[in-house]
Amino acid sequence: MFLLATVYAVLRFTESFEVTVPERRVLAVLGQPVVLGCGYTPEPSGSLDGLIVTWQRAEDDQVVHSFYFGQNQLALQSPNYKNRTTVYPTLLRAGNSSLRLDRVGPRDSGRYLCSVSGLQGIGKAEVHLEYAAFYAEPRLDILVLPSSVRLQFKSEGYPAPQVQWTHSTGQDLVSQEKLSGPREDGLIYLRTNVTLEDCGPGVNLNFTLRNTALGQVLQRPISCSLRVLERSTGSGRVVIGVVIPLLIALLACLGWAGFVYFRRKKNRESRTQMNSLQTP
Ligand SMILES: *[C@@H]1O[C@H](CO)[C@@H](O)[C@H](O)[C@H]1NC(C)=O
Ligand SMILES: *[C@@H]1O[C@H](CO)[C@@H](O)[C@H](O)[C@H]1NC(C)=O
Ligand SMILES: *[C@@H]1O[C@H](CO)[C@@H](O)[C@H](O)[C@H]1NC(C)=O
Ligand SMILES: *[C@@H]1O[C@H](CO)[C@@H](O)[C@H](O)[C@H]1NC(C)=O
Repeated sequence: MFLLATVYAVLRFTESFEVTVPERRVLAVLGQPVVLGCGYTPEPSGSLDGLIVTWQRAEDDQVVHSFYFGQNQLALQSPNYKNRTTVYPTLLRAGNSSLRLDRVGPRDSGRYLCSVSGLQGIGKAEVHLEYAAFYAEPRLDILVLPSSVRLQFKSEGYPAPQVQWTHSTGQDLVSQEKLSGPREDGLIYLRTNVTLEDCGPGVNLNFTLRNTALGQVLQRPISCSLRVLERSTGSGRVVIGVVIPLLIALLACLGWAGFVYFRRKKNRESRTQMNSLQTP
């Protein structure tokens, strides 16, 4: 009889206390605070006596935040989380042990354990935090080379994106990508380029950048129209090449003609002078 009562009490004890998370995966976006949700069966009286709440990293047991003896306990908090965490004592009374994390960055990605121990029992649950940052508007650089054109886009976000350059024919172009970071600001820097033999009118491209973590798609169409420019610089060179020697030749001719004219005129004048002298 006593045994049965004990078994019943233990079952009740374990059944009545639960720690749960509303979402197993949470996405944290750069520049926005994130809330890791966690809840437990509260004391009916709303008392915080005997309550211990601890948030820890599952990978390495770093202490993210602790609350016991009715207040925040930050002596053992990992320096990585200093000044960035909040749990709400008023919500704890109602069984809400959610953690708010500010200024999230790439290093915050990972698994977080919410452990709660109270007068009624003990339990824990895990939340997976994924960090991401939207890619900025891509910046286009155009480099015109003697026999090709190089197009380059630069942007930054997180995590590494999928990049595609497509021709209007539907063909994918061969591109080069360079990623650096993540840097202090929590961003990965992307540089990607393609080299085109022909970037004349009628050549159209699409540049597409995808950040799958955030469902972000940036598509930027590019229309080439550089043939006109190429031809005009080409014919410009031809014009210069032909016109300048012509001008030089013309000036030389004029100079010679002038010289000859003045010499003849002078000769004629001296002859008339001599004639007038001879006719007294
Ligand atoms: C946390 O905030 C306090 C008070 O604002 C400040 O003195 C301290 O340097 C901060 N610590 C970190 C690691 O940012
Ligand atoms: C717990 O509190 C957080 C922070 O205010 C809130 O976002 C969340 O919805 C609450 N959860 C529940 C189950 O009330
Ligand atoms: C670029 O993509 C848009 C939308 O998918 C499409 O309408 C357009 O025809 C594409 N242009 C090229 C040059 O492929
Ligand atoms: C862009 O093009 C040049 C020349 O082909 C190359 O040296 C450079 O590494 C390329 N890639 C990037 C990502 O800039």
